[in-house]
Amino acid sequence: MDIRDSIRQELKKNNAVLVAHYYVSGDLQDLAEETGGIVSDSLEMARFGQNSDADMIIVAGVKFMGQTAKILSPDKQVFVLDDQATCSLDEDCPIDDFSKLCDQHPDHTVVVYANTSAEVKARADWVVTSGSALKVVNHLKENNQKILWAPDKHLGNYVKNETGADMILWQGSCVVHERFKADAILNLKELYPNSAILVHPESPQEVVDIADVVGSTTALIEAVKNREEDVFIVATDNGIFHKMSEVAPNKKLIEAPSMGDSADCESCAHCDWMAMNSLEKCLNVLKKKNNEILIDPTIGNQAKKSIQKLLDFTANH
Ligand code: 13P
Ligand code: SF4
Repeated sequence: MDIRDSIRQELKKNNAVLVAHYYVSGDLQDLAEETGGIVSDSLEMARFGQNSDADMIIVAGVKFMGQTAKILSPDKQVFVLDDQATCSLDEDCPIDDFSKLCDQHPDHTVVVYANTSAEVKARADWVVTSGSALKVVNHLKENNQKILWAPDKHLGNYVKNETGADMILWQGSCVVHERFKADAILNLKELYPNSAILVHPESPQEVVDIADVVGSTTALIEAVKNREEDVFIVATDNGIFHKMSEVAPNKKLIEAPSMGDSADCESCAHCDWMAMNSLEKCLNVLKKKNNEILIDPTIGNQAKKSIQKLLDFTANH
């Protein structure tokens, strides 16, 4: 039997739903959609799992996405395809060090990016995503709050510049977005003068500065669909090209250059951890029920409050 059919069968048998991020392989994204699951950004993945009546959520993405799904759906079984698939932002922000910094600044509101562990989310007042960070921080600034931000220094810097909020920034970064090179992107722009430059805000300031659109994965896909340019230079993980070419099949998509002289990666514009997801591992998880995400209920309940705050806020704004 074709592996896709075997997965379809197992999903049905287990009353399971497959939720995939835009950065995983196209075959997993297609299967998630075909089987009644979803392909989306990290926030929508979690929201979908919470609203679904499935007993089991299979997450094609990285560990923090599985944890967020479990935090929001503690009564469901949540599995990731590979338990080694992590995120440099999550790894850059260990709970003990983070907690110490929070203790040193008791007068600051703690805002963390979704790309963090359950423990860090539990220590935070708010969890935000790339698509919601500006709105939440603006709201906090209007209420005269000072902010302790973690873990992404680039996203934090972008939010700080845009909102003018008083922010202390943790110094984490994304190993994929950090490598995009502004000068090489501008050279490419000379070859395609009518193109638009799309940038995920995990990228460095100089890359954000030359962007026509700065936004979450969902916002960048919408830009390709709705903007009038025919050519787009895209500074985010190239897994997103699958959905972009589906929604805008006649547009030309170009990977933003990331291979500078000091590059040490094979495919700089693709996250090695996202690449660990595959159809074979999906079938394996469904059959063997390995890689289950388990979270201490006290941590889970505390983290849920910070995520729920974001869900309620985005529903009302
Ligand atoms: P989004 O929330 O925009 O999907 O981003 C998640 C991520 O890991 C980006 O690198
Ligand atoms: Fe983390 Fe970057 Fe990979 Fe996204 S692309 S999961 S931020 S390492």
